Amino acid sequence: MSQIRAAISAVQGYVPDDVLSNADLEKMVDTSDAWITSRTGISERRILKGAGLGTSFMAEKAVTGLLENSGTDPDEIELLICATVTPDMTFPATANIICDRAGIKKAFSYDINAACSGFLYALATGAQFIQTGVHKKVIVVGADKMSSIVNYEDRETCVLFGDGAGAVLLEPSARYGIMDFVLRSDGAGCKHLHMKAGGSALPASHETVDAKQHYVYQEGQPVFKFAVVNMANVCEEVMKRNNLKSEDIAWLVPHQANKRIVEATRERVGLPVEKVMLNIHKYGNTTDATLPLCLWDWESQLKKGDNLILTAVGGGFTWGAMYLTWAY
Ligand code: ACO
Repeated sequence: MSQIRAAISAVQGYVPDDVLSNADLEKMVDTSDAWITSRTGISERRILKGAGLGTSFMAEKAVTGLLENSGTDPDEIELLICATVTPDMTFPATANIICDRAGIKKAFSYDINAACSGFLYALATGAQFIQTGVHKKVIVVGADKMSSIVNYEDRETCVLFGDGAGAVLLEPSARYGIMDFVLRSDGAGCKHLHMKAGGSALPASHETVDAKQHYVYQEGQPVFKFAVVNMANVCEEVMKRNNLKSEDIAWLVPHQANKRIVEATRERVGLPVEKVMLNIHKYGNTTDATLPLCLWDWESQLKKGDNLILTAVGGGFTWGAMYLTWAY
């Protein structure tokens, strides 16, 4: 019996309308457009504004659009996984809220937290339900309202992040889809990138709020060094064990944390610039949404059978690479 593969059969993104430009940030903290663009490649990012609007607001827009553009009835969806580090609430899962808002009534749903690698983790997890024949239609969402956990007085982090959401539909295919992946985590990396308070170890209190401990804490350089080495390592690993040479790869789809990390990975993998998806200049780092937003932006250029390598590194540390063939 031939193997069932999990193929991406549709993609949809959503970014909020409000733009936060480098010029805006120059007025908020001691920074400059020249520093931000040269050190990160970011020119602007989108910010979700509006009282009471959380990650599920953006994710629901992406999921509703996905159902529409793929002609899928919400009742056909059997599972929805949401990768996020900015859930609407600690519980219930944001995935549950998304399903409710999108009219998905016959699915089970849960969140995955793997920081910037979350979408890759969720894609690999969702694929298992298709490959085993258990389910026929699975939605994987990556969504984050990073503006809710960024300190806009901290120039080292506030220039990096933006808000956004992206969703893909996974369906069975005899030929195309997810072929292989390498996923890793190393909790020793926690000290370099985390949020100090608000969890069970240090619950929210007046003191934690006063100490600004409910924001992204990042030591940029150790994270940068880790990302540069490990993103390329896992890309090489997944390519090697699938006998893929640089010339076999149609697109590298990298997490958009820093243009220089992407560039270093591209060089190690040996691809020309035009084969690398890069939209960090207009969205910044949207954490779990970067990979589906890339697929959304490049969808019209993708061809059936194209070999794609998706890769990400994030807090945790978490990292990974996935080889998939495009199905439409
Ligand atoms: N504007 C102007 N100057 C700045 C700014 C800013 N926004 N931010 C920092 N600087 C200054 C620093 O204070 C420092 O000044 P000093 O030399 O006087 O001490 C100088 O610029 C250099 O700072 P570095 O931290 O060495 O700058 P670096 O080149 O490392 O760039 C950056 C910083 C962009 C954060 C980089 O380290 C990076 O991209 N790291 C990785 C981020 C990442 O991949 N994160 C993972 C995903 S996120 C997640 O999982 C949630």
